[in-house]
Amino acid sequence: MSDIPDRLETAREEIEDRLAAAADEKVLREIEISILGKKGLVQNFMRELGGLSKEEKPAAGKLINEYKQRFTQMIDARKLRLADSAMDAEIDKAALIDVTLPGSDFERGSLHPVTLVQSRLEDIFTGMGFMIADGPEAETDYFNFEALNFPPGHPAREMQDTIWLKNGMLLRTHTSPVQVRTMQRLKPPIKVIVPGRCFRFEEIDPSHENTFYQMEGLMVDKGISIANLIAVMNVLLEEVFERKLKTRLRPGYFPFVEPGFEMDMSCLICGGEGCPTCKNTGWIEILPCGMVHPNVLRHGNIDPDEYTGFAFGLGLTRLAMMKYGLSDIRVLNSGDLRVLKQFGTWEV
Ligand code: DAH
Repeated sequence: MSDIPDRLETAREEIEDRLAAAADEKVLREIEISILGKKGLVQNFMRELGGLSKEEKPAAGKLINEYKQRFTQMIDARKLRLADSAMDAEIDKAALIDVTLPGSDFERGSLHPVTLVQSRLEDIFTGMGFMIADGPEAETDYFNFEALNFPPGHPAREMQDTIWLKNGMLLRTHTSPVQVRTMQRLKPPIKVIVPGRCFRFEEIDPSHENTFYQMEGLMVDKGISIANLIAVMNVLLEEVFERKLKTRLRPGYFPFVEPGFEMDMSCLICGGEGCPTCKNTGWIEILPCGMVHPNVLRHGNIDPDEYTGFAFGLGLTRLAMMKYGLSDIRVLNSGDLRVLKQFGTWEV
C-alpha cells in the first residue's frame, strides 16, 4: 500500500520537533496551518488517495484520518502548554511583589526657624486672648510713618532706611503700621499681635538683612499701664526661652510711644555674670516697647483721654537666631536645606 504509512510516521516525528520548538502562539498557528490547512500536509496526503487502487484506498484514508486526529491533538496540547506557561510567567512576576513590604519612604519637611518661633509666640499670645492681625508689605507713607507720629521731615525717619517704590509707596520698614490699621478697624479693648515681613535698605552682612521678620504687639484699653506692659513682656520671654529670666527697662526713643523703652533680659549664656555675648554687661537688649503715643491713638480714632495702651516690636528673626544659636542672619534667607533642616520641631 505505497509508502504513505511511513511518510505519515516521519511527518509525525517532524511535527513533534517543530511543536516542541514553537515558543509562541504565532509560530504555533503557522504550524497548524501548514498541517491542517487547505493546502497543508494532511490535505496533500488526501489528494494522493486518488492515485491508489480501490482496495488500498479505505485503509489509507482511515490511516490518514487517524494521523490527522493525532496531529490535531498534538497541536492542541502544545497550545495548552503555551497558555499555561504564559500564565506561569504572570504569576512569577506577581510573586516578585512582596505586598508585606513597607511602602517607599518620603522625606519629611521641617519648619523654618523663624516659623517655629512665630508659631510658638502665636500660641503664647492667643493663650492670653490676643488676636493675630496682618497688614500689607507695600505700605503708604501715612501708615508706616505719619500715623506713627513721624511727621514729614522728622529726623527719626532716618533711623529706618526705607526702600521706596516708584508709585510713592514703600516696603514697610516695620510691623508697626498695622497698629493704626487695627485701631481704625476695631474698638477697644484691643489685644493684637502682628507677625510679618519687613524690609530695609541694608548692606547685607552676618547681622543685617534687607528682609527680616518682626512681631508687633498692641494692647489698648481703659487703665493700661507700664505694669501691664512689663507683665506681658515677662511672660512672653520666659515662655519663649523656657526658663526664668530677669528683665529691666531702659529709656528708648521711638516717635510712636511715650514713654518708650528698651527691654533687656538677663544674658542666656552667662545668666547675668558677664560674658562676651552680652559684652560683659550681663544683659541682652531684646524688646523695644512703650506706651502708645496719644497722637497715634488719635490716628486710630481712639480718644487718648479715655484709653491708654502699650506696644512692642519684637525682632522675630533676631529671636530665632538667639533661640537657635545662629550667628549669621544670612542663613535664614538662604534656602540652604542642609542648615534649615536641622531645627527640631517645636510643637506647633
Ligand atoms: N517699630 C520699631 C522698629 O522697627 C520697633 C518698635 C519699637 C515697635 C517700640 C514698637 C515699640 O511697637 O513700642 O524699629
